[in-house]
Amino acid sequence: MDIRTVPNPLVRAGGRWLRRINDRHPWSHNDHFHGWILRRLPVRRRRALDVGCGAGLLLGRLRGRFDEVLGIDADSAMAAVSTERFAGDPVVSVRHIRFEEVDGTFDTITMIAVLHHMPLEAALRHTSELLEPGGRLLVVGLARPDTVTDFSWDLASALLNPLVGMVKHPRPVTKPVDDGGPPMPVRDAVETFAELSRVARDVLPGARVRRRLFFRYTLEWTRPGGRGRRTE
Ligand SMILES: C[S@@+](CC[C@H](N)C(=O)[O-])C[C@H]1O[C@@H](n2cnc3c(N)ncnc32)[C@H](O)[C@@H]1O
Repeated sequence: MDIRTVPNPLVRAGGRWLRRINDRHPWSHNDHFHGWILRRLPVRRRRALDVGCGAGLLLGRLRGRFDEVLGIDADSAMAAVSTERFAGDPVVSVRHIRFEEVDGTFDTITMIAVLHHMPLEAALRHTSELLEPGGRLLVVGLARPDTVTDFSWDLASALLNPLVGMVKHPRPVTKPVDDGGPPMPVRDAVETFAELSRVARDVLPGARVRRRLFFRYTLEWTRPGGRGRRTE
């Protein structure tokens, strides 16, 4: 059950009204979760990998918390934006490669709105191979809405979205925002929250998967064998 495709004319009119408010008070559902990630970084902070780094905003927040930060993106235009952002930076490097091609080891792997772009089980297995003992996977993801519960979370998110927009971006935008950058590659999620949770717990025993407001879930997993968690 997807809130975007409900046929009822009243719901659709309500959706158009909410979209108009959102356009005037825009904010990023992805960037909103940076704090969630930064509060969950592991004890050892040598190397961090941000998968599907896009324009590199999270790289900038991981910088200063790790000795080395690597951003990768499968899209050449997005990788180019991040490369330019961190040109000459001794800590952050960016590569135009797919996650499937990454080797080496990391203390943290982050993924925001990326996991649903890849075959789920293979991506999670690859993650567990790349993490050091005690290393942490932190995912902010999207799932395909399917059940009444999923619909209820999406409805609550849609109704709260303009309120958060008014707080984060109180001055209304009069022209559509264009940062001049390339369009961000996006796709709809295939797996539902229930499917995602089952695969995650199967591949990564002990993984914590939670529904979140604003059309996202979070997945947190620590590879066994390390010294626990440090917060900011
Ligand atoms: C919706 S964007 C999110 C970007 C960024 N994480 C953010 O929070 O704004 C998804 C990104 O993942 C990248 N991506 C998709 N599949 C990938 C893969 N297999 N390996 C690396 N990057 C991938 C896309 O090119 C895109 O830049």
